[in-house]
Amino acid sequence: MFLKRLFKKECYFLVTEDKFFSKKPCVYFLKLVYVKESMFLTKEEEAILAGEQGTGYKEAMEILVSIGDIYNAEKLIPVQSAQIAGVSYKTARDAVIVYLKHLIKENAKVKIPAYLNPAGMDINNWKEMGIPENFAQKQQEIIELYSQLGIFVSCSCTPYFIGNIAQTGEHLAWSESSAVVFANSYFGARTNREGGPTALAAALIGKTPYFGLHLTENRVPTVKVNVELDKTMTSADYSALGLWAGKQLKMNVPLFTNLPITSSLDYRAMSAGLGASGAVPLFHVKDLSPEKDLHNDNTIIETITFTQKELKSVYESYTSDTVDMVCIGCPHAHLTEIAHIAKKMKGKKTSIPFWIFTARGIFNQAQDMGYIKTLSQAGVSVISDTCPVVAPFEGMFSGIATNSAKAAYYLPSMTKVESTLTDLDHLIEISLRGHK
Ligand code: F3S
Repeated sequence: MFLKRLFKKECYFLVTEDKFFSKKPCVYFLKLVYVKESMFLTKEEEAILAGEQGTGYKEAMEILVSIGDIYNAEKLIPVQSAQIAGVSYKTARDAVIVYLKHLIKENAKVKIPAYLNPAGMDINNWKEMGIPENFAQKQQEIIELYSQLGIFVSCSCTPYFIGNIAQTGEHLAWSESSAVVFANSYFGARTNREGGPTALAAALIGKTPYFGLHLTENRVPTVKVNVELDKTMTSADYSALGLWAGKQLKMNVPLFTNLPITSSLDYRAMSAGLGASGAVPLFHVKDLSPEKDLHNDNTIIETITFTQKELKSVYESYTSDTVDMVCIGCPHAHLTEIAHIAKKMKGKKTSIPFWIFTARGIFNQAQDMGYIKTLSQAGVSVISDTCPVVAPFEGMFSGIATNSAKAAYYLPSMTKVESTLTDLDHLIEISLRGHK
C-alpha cells in the first residue's frame, strides 16, 4: 500500500497482484480504497511546505502536516508558546546534535516563545554532580545549539513557575508530560502531549495541528474519580493519586470529586503522577478547575473511588530496602519548598546526599534569600537545569527516597536504582538519620 498527497485530497491506493484481468502473472492494478480530505493549508503555509522559506521550515511544516493528516486535523492553529523535551544527552544522544546543526545551517529560528525541558546536568556545577567530561561537552553543545535557534535555555519542567503562564483556552505546544497535564488542568490551556520534534516544529512555525485536546469535545470528563481519604493530603499523596488514577483511566478524562486541592504545587505533583502512568494529559476537579462548564454528570460513564487502601498500595509499590540518597524536585521544586527545607535543616547536617532539583530562575531567587547558603552548610545540594531521571546517575546510589511518585516510578528503569516514596518531612528525617 502506498499513500500520496494529491492537491487537497489524500488518496489511499492498494496495490495488489491480480490475475483476474490478465493471464499474465504479476499484473498490478490500483484499487482506490478511500479518499479523505487533507488538512487545509493557507497560501503562506503551502509556500513554507514548498520550501520557499528554506529547508528547515519546510521540514518543520512537513512534520506538522503529517501529524495533522494522521489525526484528521482540519487546519493548523497558532500556539502561544512551545516547551521542548529532548534536551538531555542521556536520551537525545548525537542525533539531536546533527538535526539542530542542520536547522542552524538553514537559518531557522523559532517564531514564538520556546522553553527547554531539563538537560542531563547542572550547566554550571556539573563537576560537583560527578558528570563525566565527555557527557558534559555533548550536553553543552546541545544547549548552545538550542540557544542559537532562539530557544530560552530554561532547562525546567516547571516553566509555569518561571514566567511561562498560560491563559484558559490558549493553545500551546508543550512536551514534558507533567507540564502538559498542568497546563491543561490548572490553567485550562490547550495542548496535546507533544514529542520533542513536534514541539520544536511548532516553535519554528508558530502553529500546531488542530486535533486532540485543542478541541472542546475531547476535554469532556467521562470518568468520575471520587476521593475518600480521612487525612490531610501531602504533596506526595497527590502525586500517588495521580499515578494511581493514570493507570485506571486509559483514554478517559477524569473528573475528581471531593478533592481538597488548592495549591499550584499540589496540581504540579498530581500532574506529574498522572502524566507518568496515564495517556490522557488532563484532569478536572469538580467545581474548581477552569473548565467548570464541562463538568456534567450526563457525560460520566463510570465512577471509581480512591481510598486509604489505594493510597497505601501506591506507597507499598515503592519501598526500597535501603536509602542512600534523598531527592526532591520532580517536577522542579518551588521556592517555598526550598525555604521549608532550609528552615528545617538550619544548623543540622545531612548524613547522606540530599539533592533538590529546581529551575535556575528559582535557584537564583533562593540564593538571594540566603536559602542556598543555609542548605549548603547543612550538606544539601541544590541543583539546576537537570532532573533525577535524565541525569546519568547509574551506579552512584542503590536506593533513592523521594516525595515524587513520578520519580519513584521512573528511577528503577531509567537509573537502575530502587526507589522509596514518602512525604517531604519524612525525607528530611531520613537525610538526618542516614537511613530509612
Ligand atoms: Fe521534571 Fe524530570 Fe521529573 S523532567 S517531572 S524532574 S522526571
